[in-house]
Amino acid sequence: MEKLMSLGEFIVDKQDDFKYAKGELSRLLSAIGLAARVVNREVNKAGLMKDILGDVGGKNVQGETQKKLDVYADEEFIRALKDRGEVCGLASEEKEGVIEFKSGYAVDGQYVVAIDPLDGSSNIDVNVSIGTIFSIYRRTSESGPATFDDFMQKGTEQVAAGYVIYGSSTMLVYTTGNGVNGFTLDPSIGAFFLSHPDMTIPKDGKIYSINEGNYVHFPTGVKQYLKYCQVEDAPTNRPYTSRYIGSAVADFHRNLIKGGIYIYPTTTASPNGKLRLLYEANPFAFLMEQAGGLATDGFGRILEIQPTSLHQRTPLFIGSENMVKKAMSLMEEHSPRS
Ligand code: AHG
Ligand code: MN
Ligand code: MN
Repeated sequence: MEKLMSLGEFIVDKQDDFKYAKGELSRLLSAIGLAARVVNREVNKAGLMKDILGDVGGKNVQGETQKKLDVYADEEFIRALKDRGEVCGLASEEKEGVIEFKSGYAVDGQYVVAIDPLDGSSNIDVNVSIGTIFSIYRRTSESGPATFDDFMQKGTEQVAAGYVIYGSSTMLVYTTGNGVNGFTLDPSIGAFFLSHPDMTIPKDGKIYSINEGNYVHFPTGVKQYLKYCQVEDAPTNRPYTSRYIGSAVADFHRNLIKGGIYIYPTTTASPNGKLRLLYEANPFAFLMEQAGGLATDGFGRILEIQPTSLHQRTPLFIGSENMVKKAMSLMEEHSPRS
């Protein structure tokens, strides 16, 4: 029988690959695993708890309706990472500015974390997979609580990134720049175990994932790519199949395993796309490149984009190498960047 490897054991085993102080990043990743288990507990019983489903009644900084679970997950991740000595601050989808950790050991923390505490809000109340996405950087400021500039680093500077998917089973998938590994939660003992070692995405896929309801507002290059996906062509396995959950984490996870492309382009309503660079596109891009795929904004690498604000958005074309390249070539041909 194969040896069971827990997330904690794996992190410690691999910490020699880390560029910086080993123990710190290990402890930080373990803290994320802990918060994920706490959030998982609430997500799992959401249907039973009248006070857990539904809207808070307010809007977040993006003007989006906040669900109770959005707020709960935000609080749990902040609680898990605060005052531990590894993290000096957070950027969260649910908070407008930098969350500065001011007290105790936190001010000496060498890391900052950008987080989407609960991804897929529209799926919370209907028992469909949701997730958490995180991105970890070394701070660039010397000391004290995290600053805005600590977060204005390109995605290439990420030291770790990952997501948790609360699905038919709960998984934590992460990279520290040496491949991608996935862990599945055994709910009976409350521990994550390595279940998907060294995840790689097929170079070609058959799945395309996009909110086609926005079709009329897509750039011509995207419309042309959709036409390409839907044409009959046996040698290239077309027509492809369309799959879209509307939880980016779940769409990403499926395509990573099976091969595919996820596109959230610019639309006339969202001229910069919908997804957020710091806590959605960048961590996905780091993971995708580590798994052998590509992540672009339709023209260039996501990881090379210089951020200028915490909640900035970007178009995203991400997935199997040959599919992303094809979509990019049609963008270049029909909707060149102005
Ligand atoms: P969040 O719930 O964190 O705000 O993210 C929602 C995002 C992403 O998860 C998903 O892929 C996308 O919004 C879906 O958008 P549409 O409903 O416009 O397709
Ligand atoms: Mn999200
Ligand atoms: Mn969210």
